[in-house]
Amino acid sequence: MDFLAVERGLVYLANMGPRVLLGVSGSIAAYKAVEIARLLQKGGAEVEVCLTRGALAFVTPLTFEAITRAPVRTEVLGTDGGEIAHVEQAHAVDLILVAPASANVLARLAAGFADDALTATILATRAPLLLAPAMETGMWENPATTDNVARLVARGAQILGPGEGALASGRSGRGRMLEPAEIVEQVFGALGPRDFAGREVLVTAGPTWEPLDPVRILSNRSTGAMGIEIAAAAARRGGQVNLVLGPTHLVPPSHPGLKVVRVETALQMLAAAEAALRKNSVVIGTAAVSDFRPAAARPQKLKRSDPAAAQLALAENPDVLATLGTKLGEGGLLVGFAAETEDVEAHALGKLKKKGCHLIIANQVGSAQGFGPGETKVVALDDVGGRAAFGPASKTKVAQFVLDQVARVGKQRSG
Ligand code: CTP
Repeated sequence: MDFLAVERGLVYLANMGPRVLLGVSGSIAAYKAVEIARLLQKGGAEVEVCLTRGALAFVTPLTFEAITRAPVRTEVLGTDGGEIAHVEQAHAVDLILVAPASANVLARLAAGFADDALTATILATRAPLLLAPAMETGMWENPATTDNVARLVARGAQILGPGEGALASGRSGRGRMLEPAEIVEQVFGALGPRDFAGREVLVTAGPTWEPLDPVRILSNRSTGAMGIEIAAAAARRGGQVNLVLGPTHLVPPSHPGLKVVRVETALQMLAAAEAALRKNSVVIGTAAVSDFRPAAARPQKLKRSDPAAAQLALAENPDVLATLGTKLGEGGLLVGFAAETEDVEAHALGKLKKKGCHLIIANQVGSAQGFGPGETKVVALDDVGGRAAFGPASKTKVAQFVLDQVARVGKQRSG
């Protein structure tokens, strides 16, 4: 295990580490980026490297390819994957680090340029951005650079250093890139906890479609947004995640720890979830499963004139979450969601008991609340009387809160 991992009490598993894109720009400090790539890898990260044209004057793609065993990208268009590659990478990586970040690359990023693989990827990403500047003191202190840095910080970028010390010019002053170990430590800090490493996580999400005939379905307003956020966050936190997802236009992000199974009906959702279930899984049921389905799906379109059209015969669907709960072992954890329109906490506690959950996340829903993007407010209630409220906050933040609660209840039960 790596020194960083030991220091933070984290466990990294092979091939399940966070994906980090290391951008290297034109500075004499570029040679230190080789050591950064090595340390990131040693700490459990999967490292991909992008070089700017300026960086190519100092280091070669081969140096990084030999360490990371992954192709190094330089241009937006061309034989290295073209436009799709940078969009793919932008969505897949968990964090982007630019080290060294030259004055020129800071200016291009501040202005929103996308004229090479690195800047195009950064423009397309939603992953955290860390920049480790390296330049002459005069360039660092120039108001143009100060302005660029301020703009990048205002947009959420994190600036690492620069420190003071000997510079390439032979002078001494501010502008020296931080040492690789210090940069790498900040990267792992920004990547957040890895508290789901080694855990199997099963998330159900989205609505279900219950066919009435070949063209009509019984469904609901769920988009699966909450479940997708939770599944992606659990994968980033180290979990091996199976996401069983009902019909939605939303596309889950790609991540090595996230496997998505698409289903349509409640029965398919149950079958797919049972296939992915392990005795000690953390099961998180966010799906808005249709409680009923048309008793018999018609092989042909139901006609208005058909007497059956005015009266729909329904059959009850299985409770996916409760069924999975009965198959979990001692080490498993069952987490439900309760979308309610009234008496939220009372109803949620009733469901917690009825379904045998260890934790339930309750939220109020209405026609304009709780579905799709936007802010949501939740209350976490556990089976030993614990209560924690959170929000209103984005679903991305609520997902982290839910996982914090799951981790807390897991610890509570095992300790
Ligand atoms: N759930 C499930 N399968 C069902 C119904 C619900 O897995 N057939 C799960 C949901 O994913 C959620 C929890 O059970 O985690 C509560 O869902 P909800 O729709 O709020 O409750 P219901 O059990 O359907 O109760 P009601 O419709 O009476 O409110």
